[in-house]
This record gives sequence, structure tokens and C-alpha cells, in this order.
Amino acid sequence: MEEIRNIRLSENADSLIIVDQTKLPGALEYIELKSREELFDAISMLKVRGAPAIGIAAAYGYALCAKEDCEEQDFFRRMDDAERYLASSRPTAVNLFWALERMRQTLRKNALLPRNEIVDRLFAEARAIHEEDIASNRRISEFGLELIEDGAGILTHCNAGPLATSRYGTALGPILLGRERGMNFRVYADETRPLLQGARLTAFELQNAGVDVTLICDNMAGQVMKEGRVSAVFIGCDRAARNGDAANKIGSASLAVLARYYRIPFYMFAPLSTVDMDAASGKDIKIEERDPSEVTELYYKERMAPEGVKVYNPAFDVVDHDLITGIVTEEGIVHAPFEENFIKAFQSKKARTEKENAEV
Ligand code: MRU
Repeated sequence: MEEIRNIRLSENADSLIIVDQTKLPGALEYIELKSREELFDAISMLKVRGAPAIGIAAAYGYALCAKEDCEEQDFFRRMDDAERYLASSRPTAVNLFWALERMRQTLRKNALLPRNEIVDRLFAEARAIHEEDIASNRRISEFGLELIEDGAGILTHCNAGPLATSRYGTALGPILLGRERGMNFRVYADETRPLLQGARLTAFELQNAGVDVTLICDNMAGQVMKEGRVSAVFIGCDRAARNGDAANKIGSASLAVLARYYRIPFYMFAPLSTVDMDAASGKDIKIEERDPSEVTELYYKERMAPEGVKVYNPAFDVVDHDLITGIVTEEGIVHAPFEENFIKAFQSKKARTEKENAEV
């Protein structure tokens, strides 16, 4: 199967083309997003999803907004509106705000240039965010691969593969890289109620790559661990606070508790763009709450709960830092004490980037 390009700009850079992830695995459909409303809808309805992918889509979306027709004197106000609007599409993954912040800085830095040059600079910044994510994913995959031996059993949750990022993926990156190198892992993919990212996307991506993947319901993870089938848990991350508390798809926190009980290493995977040093702990991370219909009926043939029943549908939870064995970043594996070691990882990234830029 040819490689899926989940996010790309159209030839003449007037629209963003994404895979509509809500249609997978039944149909591989590409859709074109032009207006800010279409971008908002795609992010909030999870047509594009996964923390890094949301950030990349929002960055291109912001650049596209700069191309909208408007009076010269309205331009900066309209861009501020676009930023606020796109930022309100989802609350938990910090990559969204991180990418929009980078785009705003680029706009401000180039504010005195003619409009067409500002637009060029914004597209260049969006491309840089996209390319940096590809490079980070690659490094994360290499670091993650050092944690597992050929034949290992890995349990994963939600989807942190190429669809959720730019390419390679984060938590699935080592598995896919290992497969490319002829290694064979046994992956247990939680289906991930209620939106089934594990069943629809992780199983799809791993199967296509020839990885031995077994789908389980979320409530089977304990049994699979007890049977000794799991050597490590690998999951993604939507926002890590500076003390190491880390938000990811709902169900991640209970997996961490199970892993501790069964003494299984629990790794989260996050590019540094997912680390929010402004959040002191998990308490500062806003947890998205989604529509009750996702629980009662969305993926059922018919409604599976009585009309009018109360539903609580938090889309994420926070894994307490003391349950996390390590957070795999593009600068290596960050262990406790997290704050100190995140600072070192950011310093290492800065030094490495400066060195790479000097060599070009
Ligand atoms: O609601 P989603 O599907 O956007 O949630 C995605 C996750 O929880 C992923 O694990 C996370 O974004 C990391 S993706 C590399």
C-alpha cells in the first residue's frame, strides 16, 4: 500500500488536503479544507486528529487565513480572530496552541513586509513545523526502539501512528521502524472507546505495515497483562506538564495503574512540542468533554443506552508522573525528575538545531 500523506498543501497552496480519519478504515478519503470554518470543523470533529497533526493542520490553516481577501487595515485584526477561532477547536493537545503561537510570532516579526511576503513567510513557518515533526518522529522512533527486543509484546492505546503526526508516528514509530528492519513485535491495540481510534486507525496502520496486531476491548488490558503477554506499554501524549504529569486519550491513566501493578514499563511518547512548561502539573491541563452521543450511539447500529440517561464523556485523562517510566522525546528518554530533565531536553534540542543550521 502506498504511503498515506495525511496532511499536505494543494499544488497552488490554496487549500489543505487531509485524510478524513473519521472514514477510516472503511474508506481512504482525502478532503480539501479552504476556509477557517472548514479547518475548525476538521479539527473539532477529529477528521484530522492526534496532537502533532492538529498543530500542523492549524499552522497551515493560519497561513491559509492570511490569504483571505480583506481590506489592508483589517488584516491583523482578522488574523487575531483566526488564531482565537482555530485555538478554540479543541482544548487539550498543546500542539495546537504551540503551533498557533509560532505562527503569530512569525506574523509579528514580518509585520512590516508587503502582504504577499508575509503570506510566504507564514507558509514557510507552517512547512518548518511540519518538517520538524517528521524529523522528531524519526528520532523518537529510534530512541523507542532501544527499549524493546525483537518479539516483544507491546500494548498501545488510541492512535499515535503516522496518521496522528506527520510521518512515522510517536508511540507506533519504534514498532514500524523495527518492522522495516525485519523485527517482529506482537502489538495489543486497545479499541479505545468511544471513538475507536485503536480499532479504526491503529489496527489499520499496523496491519498495513505487516505488524502482528491483535485488537482488544479496553477492559481486556488487565487480563492481557496478567497473562504475561505485555513487555511494555507504549502510548502517545497530548500534553505533558512540567512535573511530568501527562494527558492522553481517556483510559491511559487506568492503563498506567495496571502496568504498575503488573510491573510493566509504561512509556509515553511526545515530541517536545507536546511538553507544556507553563503547566505546573496535570491540574493545569484542560480535559476536553465531548458530546454524549459518542458514547450512546455513534459507532453502534442502534442506540445502546436509554434515552435521557446521563453521560459523562471526558476525552482525555492525566497519567500521574510517578506512574510513568519515561517520556520518549526527540532528545532521548526523559525520566524523573521530569522538570529538571525537560529543561535539559529543551537545551539539547536548541544546541542540536543551532549546530544543524550552522552546517547547512
Ligand atoms: O482525540 P484524539 O484522537 O486526537 O486523541 C489522540 C491521542 O490521545 C494520541 O495518543 C495523542 O494525540 C498522541 S498522537 C502522536
